[in-house]
Amino acid sequence: MAQEDVFKKLVSHCKEYGFVFPSSEIYDGLSAVYDYGQNGVELKNNIKKYWWDSMVLLNEEVVGLDAAIFMHPTTWKASGHVDAFNDPLIDNKDSKKRYRADVLIEDKLAKYEEKMAKEVAKAAKRFGDQFDEEQFVTTNPRVLANQEKYNKLNDRFVKAMNDSDLDGLRNIIVEEEISCPVSGSKNWTDVRQFNLMFSTEMGSTAEGASTIYLRPETAQGIFVNYLNVQKTGRMKLPFGIAQIGKAFRNEIVARQFIFRMREFEQMEMQYFVKPGTELEFFEQWKQRRMKWHKTLGYGEENYRFHDHDKLAHYANAATDVEFKFPFGFKEVEGIHSRTDFDLGAHQKFSGKKIQFFDPESNTSFTPFVVETSIGLDRMFLQIISAAYTEEVIKKDNGQEDQRVVMKLPPALAPVKLAILPLTKKDGLPEKARSIMETLKFDFNCQYEEKDSIGRRYRRQDAIGTPYCITIDHQTLKDHTVTVRHRDSMEQDRTAIDTLRETIKDKVDITTLLKQL
Ligand code: GAP
Repeated sequence: MAQEDVFKKLVSHCKEYGFVFPSSEIYDGLSAVYDYGQNGVELKNNIKKYWWDSMVLLNEEVVGLDAAIFMHPTTWKASGHVDAFNDPLIDNKDSKKRYRADVLIEDKLAKYEEKMAKEVAKAAKRFGDQFDEEQFVTTNPRVLANQEKYNKLNDRFVKAMNDSDLDGLRNIIVEEEISCPVSGSKNWTDVRQFNLMFSTEMGSTAEGASTIYLRPETAQGIFVNYLNVQKTGRMKLPFGIAQIGKAFRNEIVARQFIFRMREFEQMEMQYFVKPGTELEFFEQWKQRRMKWHKTLGYGEENYRFHDHDKLAHYANAATDVEFKFPFGFKEVEGIHSRTDFDLGAHQKFSGKKIQFFDPESNTSFTPFVVETSIGLDRMFLQIISAAYTEEVIKKDNGQEDQRVVMKLPPALAPVKLAILPLTKKDGLPEKARSIMETLKFDFNCQYEEKDSIGRRYRRQDAIGTPYCITIDHQTLKDHTVTVRHRDSMEQDRTAIDTLRETIKDKVDITTLLKQL
């Protein structure tokens, strides 16, 4: 099945099973804004816990924060967002559709990459075990030609972006003959800058009201609280502040479901270090964050780093953790070495001394910052796209059947345990309820008695429940239940008294944390 079709199915699966709904859907929705349903909110909370505990629980030098969304307007002047948080936009005159000029060019670059990957895949199939990829990509004329085009385009693109050269971006679009995906025409407007911050008014009278912004990143809440936390927590360098919260961006082109939203959540951690040590910590956090991702078990080959060619003026190193979504490798997390840019700017704009006094050297200085910044919604999308699996299975009567199963890591699954009486009579529901009463304090359990047991298993597979326990007539005699495992569909008989211990070990967040 084409990856686009898989993605469409995933989106409708998310709606059908209470993971993600379009916002205010009864009014036809609001573009690029989504609500999380009964299963989505549980999965989201579990992802947050995995991240929060990996930062705050496991590292004694990292502490948490929950800053307000509204901040003093000068914050955004100091951070550079008022002047420079722009995307280059371009309109197609025929379709009247609006695009990000940089994304159109990135898509063109991805096409060259795809062409090269196709040549490699074709050759690998032809030559089998004899295939030497290294030799092929350095000698095959078609790969070399595409690589040259890629490099030339990439160099021009990086330069135009670095120089904020809007005409340069337009020239690339025209010369590369990039056409509008909707109208197919190459009839483009000029490229213009567009500020992504949402603004609103604070104060009730027109004269007294001032323009404030909905924060476009959570990081600035951390920077402006650096002194508060450092002093009240008596923190020594290096130390980190972690925060999870909403951020808002008026994205020009919001697309791919919850990948690019206008209201989303970020999980950010700023690590304050001594100047000169930042690249060492940057490297450390790079490795640690990659391990956090890979611990979920979705395959080494689906992750890669993308080091930035174009560094923001305040950064001296930056990389993205990319995941292979159904629509290709895309950024999930950014890791940036931001120097002393942010604290320095807030010091300048606020007039307050924002420094660290180092008793060893008896000097004060502005700490440097290494930031890890991950989108919670994007992480959610990463997990559900990796988990969504369609399987053909054999029924007891030998016939084939199909099932959709969400292979979520048990520790992240919204429901850990489904409690299913085999029938609605003979005291089985009562027994099932009594088991639920004892287990509900430890796990998110779901009780279900409607429909055949097979259909109930399918419904639990579809939301990723790792364990289903069935209460049958034997349960009443010997206090055992059937435990059915989601991925293998195998079943075993377990004593009710041992259920808690057996399952807790496998579904607790600590199972993931201990692997970090
Ligand atoms: N403080 C740094 C910062 O905000 P960023 O690369 O702009 O850096 C960090 O954003 C992460 O936030 C991204 O890697 C992505 O996962 C997420 N993100 C950014 N814009 C988003 C959007 N419009 N919708 C969903 N997630 C977004």
